[in-house]
Amino acid sequence: MKFFVDTAEIDAIAELNDLGMVDGVTTNPSLIMKSGRDILEVTKEICDLVDGPVSAEVVATEAEAMIAEGRKLAEIAENITVKVPLTWDGLKTCKTLSDEGRMVNVTLCFSANQALIAAKAGATFISPFIGRLDDINLDGCDLIEDIRTIYDNFGFETQVLAASIRTVNHVTECARIGADVITAPPEVIKKLAAHPLTDKGLEAFMADWAKTGQTIL
Ligand code: E4P
Repeated sequence: MKFFVDTAEIDAIAELNDLGMVDGVTTNPSLIMKSGRDILEVTKEICDLVDGPVSAEVVATEAEAMIAEGRKLAEIAENITVKVPLTWDGLKTCKTLSDEGRMVNVTLCFSANQALIAAKAGATFISPFIGRLDDINLDGCDLIEDIRTIYDNFGFETQVLAASIRTVNHVTECARIGADVITAPPEVIKKLAAHPLTDKGLEAFMADWAKTGQTIL
């Protein structure tokens, strides 16, 4: 399973990238706003840092303007993935840009039928939002499972990019189900390494080691 990092914060991406944890990056208008950076500048910096796909989202809502924005974003770097919302105009944009050979991430997916139609429109990635479904008392991971089954039934090549990941358990579930990619905030990726028994065990080892009076170096 590939790890994308869901942020536009350069330092956080660089730290994880140095550890080989970053197979790609996803951004959205809210994350760009949070970074306080210019979209074209910060996206270029991310693309220079990371080899894998970097999603940059269009903000127009009508196909013609979305396509123009998508083409402009795609000029930033070879590894740009144009991100479009799952609307009818977004699907038109997806079809046009994917026919031009560009990678497209169709975002804001909340149903299996939306995922099906995005695959038909040539999406490279489909982004079902797990956390936002959980927020309204639905099970976001059930949607990942449904999409996995449907794509496998028909051999769709669109990659399932599980998004809106809020907890480490979301990551476990996505790996179990067979999502192709998860995109998670840096803090969730870092939490994957944490376990209270690791901390407790290390504390005990350190206490015993101090009693030996030894040093290694
Ligand atoms: C995905 O591409 C989105 O940027 C992101 O995962 C949304 O997450 P949120 O629901 O926590 O805002």
